[in-house]
Amino acid sequence: MPGLAPSEIRQQFPIFSHHPELAYLDNAATTQKPRAVIDGLAAFYEKQNANIHRGIYSLSAQATLQYEQVRRKVAALIGAPGPGSIVYTSGATAGINLVASSFLLPRLRPGDEVLISAMEHHANLIPWQMACRQAGARLGVIPMSPVGELDMAAFRQMLSGRVKMLAITHLSNTLGTINPVEEMTALAHRKGIPVLVDGAQSAAHLEIDVAGWGVDFFAFSGHKLFGPTGIGILYGRAEHLEAMQPVIFGGDMVRNVTFEETSFAAPPQRFEAGTTHIAGVIGLGCAVDFVSRLDRPAVRARVEALGQYARALLAEIPGLRFIGEARQAGAIVSFVLDRVHPHDLATFLSAEHIAVRAGHHCTQPIMQYYGIPGTTRASFTLYNTREEAERLAAQVREAQKFFT
Ligand code: ALA
Repeated sequence: MPGLAPSEIRQQFPIFSHHPELAYLDNAATTQKPRAVIDGLAAFYEKQNANIHRGIYSLSAQATLQYEQVRRKVAALIGAPGPGSIVYTSGATAGINLVASSFLLPRLRPGDEVLISAMEHHANLIPWQMACRQAGARLGVIPMSPVGELDMAAFRQMLSGRVKMLAITHLSNTLGTINPVEEMTALAHRKGIPVLVDGAQSAAHLEIDVAGWGVDFFAFSGHKLFGPTGIGILYGRAEHLEAMQPVIFGGDMVRNVTFEETSFAAPPQRFEAGTTHIAGVIGLGCAVDFVSRLDRPAVRARVEALGQYARALLAEIPGLRFIGEARQAGAIVSFVLDRVHPHDLATFLSAEHIAVRAGHHCTQPIMQYYGIPGTTRASFTLYNTREEAERLAAQVREAQKFFT
């Protein structure tokens, strides 16, 4: 398979030629972009720019064709039955919000419940919390253990007839935990509960099979999959998308409009009002081509092994405690260091050209659970190396000496 060696892959990412010393370990926040994505975006603006669906001239027709073809690529990447179930959004957050407002809210009644887990990103928490508040429903939270694994026995017991939705992260952005979404979906479906999976962290790294798992919705962002910012995907089962009303209204999403009433286009176009991020879609298509050419299972194994290697090195540092030690985990390593604030540590590392994230990672309830203000988080992907993990561990030791 082409391009498995990190050095080969790394060469495809121009940012590293501008920052040769950079150890970029903040891939859970956003990934860097390969040349193919950057060139694809530029080529679109330079040679093909036109609005979609509206023009009869050939430039517009070509833009439309390219835009619609990306739906097929995305569908193939995530195991969706076809392009009709692929909605373009501005990111994972927008996709989850759309499901909460358009799918859930109209069917949520006082006394109903929505289930999320203790490790959700705010984007997979607040939309459900708001929907519950509006409908007089209750937000149930599946508990987790101190190592950051969901309590599956508690989950089974929480699946009552009152539950109208399960929304769960596939790969926790803070803990690195990989949740058993297929098993959870099967359990929820036995009670007729629809399931949304937040794939923001998993789409780039794990194999996704939305149809095989039977999930009802799957949301992710382009920029965490080596694509542009401002573009994302919501997969939805066809019957759900058909039943959902749009929540944003405007051009390009209608069949017929009079002053008295409007009929909407079929999904997915119904949910794509206004001029969307056309270049972003094209860029996302280039990113999907990029990852689809890789041997994904081999890349996953290598990246997860790199995460384990970083953990092993960091584990030798006295006073360092991991936040999240699940048996099934991606290459996201969060930790706290005695007497060193995460922001101070990240600032120290930045001076050594090591980019990590520090803070609550938009998961404040996880911080409340562990009673900490934040963590330092290193998140690895396919262009990272063992040498970068070694530099991280060495500089964390240096920071410890410096601050204590
Ligand atoms: N949700 C992204 C992160 O975890 C931004 O850093």
